[in-house]
Order: sequence, then structure tokens, then C-alpha cells
Amino acid sequence: MTAIEQLFVLATQAREKAYAPYSRFPVGAALRTENSAFFVGCNVENAAYPLGVCAETSAISAMVAAGESRIAEILVVGPGPERLAPCGACRQRIAEFICDGGVVHLADPAGGVLSLPLADLLPHAFGPASLKRE
Ligand code: THU
Repeated sequence: MTAIEQLFVLATQAREKAYAPYSRFPVGAALRTENSAFFVGCNVENAAYPLGVCAETSAISAMVAAGESRIAEILVVGPGPERLAPCGACRQRIAEFICDGGVVHLADPAGGVLSLPLADLLPHAFGPASLKRE
């Protein structure tokens, strides 16, 4: 199985665990770090709607809690039929941790995948390097 296939299986399994009773739009995410550790996340909604957390955010939290911080690739999948495109806030969160050359895979439930560098999803991003002065 390729790394993308593995990410797709993991993200699909995570999506099945999503807590999305309000939107009824379950999302799964799976990422591989530069050390080839895998982490997954799903969206977790709340009756107080703005408190809901995206799948990508959950996966990033799991990665950081495990002591890792460099994403080599991340795959996201929703309920379809379209490929899931990460929301703007999650693009920014991914930007914080993605490696140079890191890839974001936009998947649909049938296994169709569009693989893009983060810069295609978030051009001219504000990131850690933007905070440097002089
Ligand atoms: N959602 C994600 O988990 N990731 C995204 O990138 C897009 C949106 C979730 C948030 C909410 O629980 C549901 O999808 C509908 O917006």
C-alpha cells in the first residue's frame, strides 16, 4: 500500500468516528510526519456551534501531543461526492507545521485524490518566518 492509500484508509476510518450531529458533514484527516509517524483526526462539533473543531485541527493536535511537529503529507476526506478542500483556518494551521515540499491531498470518498503543495492552497502565507524582524 502506498503512503497515500494508507492515509486515505486512516482518514476514512477517522471520518467514521466524526461527531457531526449538527452539520451531518463528517470529515476525516490523516497525516504522516517527516519521521513517518501517522496521526488521525475527525471533526468534533458542539451544541455551541462555534466551538466545533475541524478534522485537520484534531490530527495536528494529536501530532503535537505525541511530540512531533513536521507534516510531510496530510489527506482530508469528507462525505462526498466532491473532494474535501480544507477550510481557510485549517490551511493556516497546516502551514504552521508542513515541511518544505509537503503535500496536501484533497480526497473524495471514492478514492479520487488531488495532491497540491500547500502554497497552491494558501499562497503568500503568513507563517513562522513572517515573525522575524530585521
Ligand atoms: N470541516 C472540517 O472538519 N474540515 C474542513 O476543512 C472543512 C470543514 C468540518 C467542520 C464542520 O464540523 C463540518 O465540517 C461542516 O462545516
